[in-house]
Amino acid sequence: MGRAGAARHSMAGPEEAPQHRVLDPLTLPKFVDALPIPPLLVSKGKRPNPTHRKQLLPYYRIELTELSVKLHRDIPPTRQWGYAGTVPGPTIATQSGQGFLIEWVNNLPKKHFLPVDHTIHGAERNEPEVRTVAHVHGAKAPPESDGYPEHWHTPGQSRIHYYPNEQDAATLWYHDHAMGITRLNLFAGLLGVLTIADPTEQALNLPGGRFDIPLVLYDRTLDRDGQLLYPVSDTPGAPFVSEFHGNAIICNGKLFPYLDVQPRKYRFRILNAANGSHFQLALSGGRPMMQVGSDQGLLAAPVQISTLMLFPAERAEVIIDFSGLEGQELELNSGELGILQLRVQKQTAAPDTSSLPTTLRTVPRTPETSSARERLLTLSEHDDPSGGAMKMLLNESHWSMPVTEKPVLDSTEIWSFVNLGGDAHPIHLHLVRFQVLDRRPFDVPAYNADKSLVYTGPAVAPDANEQGWKDTVRADSGMVTRIIVKFEGYAGRYVWHCHMLEHEDNEMMRPYDVVPR
Ligand code: C2O
Ligand code: CU
Repeated sequence: MGRAGAARHSMAGPEEAPQHRVLDPLTLPKFVDALPIPPLLVSKGKRPNPTHRKQLLPYYRIELTELSVKLHRDIPPTRQWGYAGTVPGPTIATQSGQGFLIEWVNNLPKKHFLPVDHTIHGAERNEPEVRTVAHVHGAKAPPESDGYPEHWHTPGQSRIHYYPNEQDAATLWYHDHAMGITRLNLFAGLLGVLTIADPTEQALNLPGGRFDIPLVLYDRTLDRDGQLLYPVSDTPGAPFVSEFHGNAIICNGKLFPYLDVQPRKYRFRILNAANGSHFQLALSGGRPMMQVGSDQGLLAAPVQISTLMLFPAERAEVIIDFSGLEGQELELNSGELGILQLRVQKQTAAPDTSSLPTTLRTVPRTPETSSARERLLTLSEHDDPSGGAMKMLLNESHWSMPVTEKPVLDSTEIWSFVNLGGDAHPIHLHLVRFQVLDRRPFDVPAYNADKSLVYTGPAVAPDANEQGWKDTVRADSGMVTRIIVKFEGYAGRYVWHCHMLEHEDNEMMRPYDVVPR
């Protein structure tokens, strides 16, 4: 798990939380709860398409409510906030081109149960304390349905969003995006998976149905009563902390679950839904996994991996073949932290007829020559002179400053993230998919002195499993990370931001405009 640079921050991690209150997960027996599989969301009939009134679209209604669920057999139920009564929320499954409507109904309490910091922009005392706005991460959605952080609604209100789903097969996810409290709303449980299938992907005959399983991962810290423990700073009236890292990894809403698997191939769709931690996922015994997909869908060909690094908001689809492992028990871990036990049964219920083809999809590389312009965008850290929390900025700009990134619809640009700070940041752009070009080390002091970009080594190509379509990219410390993006879909206002939610909530997020040609 990632704690890179954590010591350099004025932050309070779980170790600063009152020790006597923190539950040590290692005192609990492991692997006593079955892995829950989030239910599939069922549509509530059809309604007219808002843009073509004659077309009827599946209509879903998702209520946001407070609930209490047991995270582990031996701890009391944990208060959480969920979509449609579960955490993670139900899986929404659709086909590419099959649009739908979702009504997001906020029926949450009016008071937050986690520490809102009213000194954070957008969460001031004159704003309602509980605000929500749903965003489908990775969706090519019109701006009015994208979940702009300021377009929140309060308990008792609902919003209908239209998702055309005109995009390739991929594992997307939905989560809250309300200004200044996104970190708390996700920590409370407002997140879920959305899958898009398409004919190319279905023709591959990858493991499907009950052999296609989402694994939603996030870390948490609990108190001895099993309740979520979100750390607070020691500044009175300003509880914000600039990073969160927990001591337990929750998988599909359970701590240390197990899954009975048949000795055959499975497809797992893994999502890092953590606030700030990255995971280094590995199977016990170093058993290989075959990665077939990343954020925005299939890779060109499967990539064999033994560890999988996932930063917040990144997804990976992997095929794990349990054949030949009859009767064995495997574990999925992140570093020292156990996540999930896989118990391989003695036999398959039916022969495994699924396939793992050697090629998956053509992923044409976007040529650099197609780029209309390159933007140099800094990622930087700023200490608070008055001793408050550290602040991270994009391009030295705050959220409320005028929009500076205005790509033209259907144009292609290279965005170069110049990371001046000590942390890696997962950078996400709404609306679009992109490709990672490279990462190149540079002289940070030289840049800080006079903004000259002096490279100190050769450009490093992205790893094989980063060479597909992405929507979130790890921008390493001391590196220039370049992506190439075509701004397709819609003109309008979107956002780009760091997906470490504490950073995002505290100014590491900017609006951007796709402008008509
Ligand atoms: Cu995962 Cu702006 O979102
Ligand atoms: Cu960040």
